[in-house]
Amino acid sequence: MILPIVAYGDPVLKKEAEEIDEKYPDLSKLISDMFDTMYHAKGVGLAAPQIGRSIRLFIVDGSPFADEEDDEPDPRAVGIEDFKKVFINPIIEEETGEKWAFQEGCLSIPKIRENVHRKEKVLITYFDENWEFHEETFDGYAARIIQHEYDHIEGILFTDHLSPLKKKMLTKRLQNISSGKIDIDYKMSFPDAKKPKMI
Ligand code: NI
Repeated sequence: MILPIVAYGDPVLKKEAEEIDEKYPDLSKLISDMFDTMYHAKGVGLAAPQIGRSIRLFIVDGSPFADEEDDEPDPRAVGIEDFKKVFINPIIEEETGEKWAFQEGCLSIPKIRENVHRKEKVLITYFDENWEFHEETFDGYAARIIQHEYDHIEGILFTDHLSPLKKKMLTKRLQNISSGKIDIDYKMSFPDAKKPKMI
C-alpha cells in the first residue's frame, strides 16, 4: 500500500524519533508499505518520519545507483545493486574518511537538489526486519544513503546542512513545498495546504 509522504515543514520531520521493540504493531506490513511507497516515488531510501511515524526505522534500496554496463566503473557504486535493507534502531557508531560533496535530494523536499558534504565511511549497528543484530561498515553511495536516512530519524533534513545563504535562497521554494504548490507525481501530505473553505 502506498502511503502519503510528508512534505517539508511538517513537525514530524524535525523530531528525534523513538526506538521500537519487537512488539511494535504490524511492523512487517509497515515495512512492506514503506517499500511500496519508496518505489512508487522512485526513491533510494525512506525513513519512517517521512510517512508520519516518529520511529527509528528506515529502508534503503540503492540499486538505481548501479553502474550501467557500458559506463566507466564508479568505485562509489561497488555493491550498490544489492544494497536493499531495513534498518531498525540503528546507531551510527563512527563516521570516517574525507568529506565529499554529493547532490542530495529528498522525497519530502521534491525537485530540490543541493550539494551536501559528508564523510566517506560509516560504521553502523542496527536490527534488520527479522530482529537480527548487525554491525557493518559502508562506504560510497551506500554510506551516503544511510547518512541521509539516519538524519531523518534524528530530525535533520539535508537542507539543515546548507549554508544560511543557500538556505535563504531556497526559502520561497521550500514554502511552496509546504503549502503543496508543487507538481509532483507521487502521493504527499502538505502541512500548510489550504483547507477547502466552508461556506
Ligand atoms: Ni530524505
